Amino acid sequence: MKRVLITRDIPESGIVMLQEKFEVVVNRKDIPMTKEEMIKEFPKYDGVLTALSDGIDSDVLAAAPNVKVFANYAVGFNNFDVETAKANNVAMTNTPDVLSDTTAETAWALLFAVSRRILEADKYVREGKWERFAHKLLLGQDVYEKTIGIVGAGRIGQRFAEKARGYHMRILYHNRERNLDFEKRFNATYVELDQLYSESDFISLHCPLTEDTKHLINEDAFKKMKFSSVIINTSRGPVIDEQALVNALKNNEIWGAGLDVYENEPEIHPELLKMTNVVLLPHLGSATSETREKMSQMAARNIIEVLEGREPINPVY
Ligand code: GLV
Ligand code: GLV
Repeated sequence: MKRVLITRDIPESGIVMLQEKFEVVVNRKDIPMTKEEMIKEFPKYDGVLTALSDGIDSDVLAAAPNVKVFANYAVGFNNFDVETAKANNVAMTNTPDVLSDTTAETAWALLFAVSRRILEADKYVREGKWERFAHKLLLGQDVYEKTIGIVGAGRIGQRFAEKARGYHMRILYHNRERNLDFEKRFNATYVELDQLYSESDFISLHCPLTEDTKHLINEDAFKKMKFSSVIINTSRGPVIDEQALVNALKNNEIWGAGLDVYENEPEIHPELLKMTNVVLLPHLGSATSETREKMSQMAARNIIEVLEGREPINPVY
């Protein structure tokens, strides 16, 4: 019987699918494996269901030549050395589409939480500070009819843009390549990044982390943004230079930030923890019961396909 390792605990439905066909081991402790543990354990398996915290680099790949498929429990796969896997004919898969709306909703939740100061207001009420209705209490910023700048017009960026239309927003976007379908469907305008920074009231990041997007949002970028602007990141932490973000917030170069991802997860810049105009989530982009079950089944399905000799359904290369 073929053997499958699931490196972290995940919703059951995919585990059950795998158990019907293979001998399955689940890391129920749910503590990420170290590189040494991966190198020691992976050679015992034919397929591995990985988490985005598992760095599947050339050393890990070299140590486990029997593994035919790595199925990431995530849409992002910056934890994969795709080139080496490709050269060795090892399948690598991700979980696209099923989490796009959910992640877009997380971005919107952050956007509203920051712009309407939801967490500050909740704290104010709980601390017993609310005495009477007041006309100038906790004033935020409107979202409707404002300009939204979307960086990355992929699947999640599209779902995010679709929702922006309901708020009658002017939609600017930047992407590696122009996406005419995106422009037509969402009445969006392609702009260079500098223009996106200077004209957007809200900026939401939906690009993958690559060598090109690492620290894309740096000191220079913040200096071009409006003082009233809000930045939302549900993509990958390193797309933003976190120290530059802290400086921009401290110097009032931007108005606020909503973050789901960080440069060195789970560490968070200590200054961010003190700021009231920042809303911080513990990487919850796709975290709904429905979506996480779908991701579980999708990752399992990919392992089944490959280990039964067929092509993966969601290959990353
Ligand atoms: C989560 O960050 C994912 O890539 O699915
Ligand atoms: C992720 O799936 C994206 O393409 O945005």
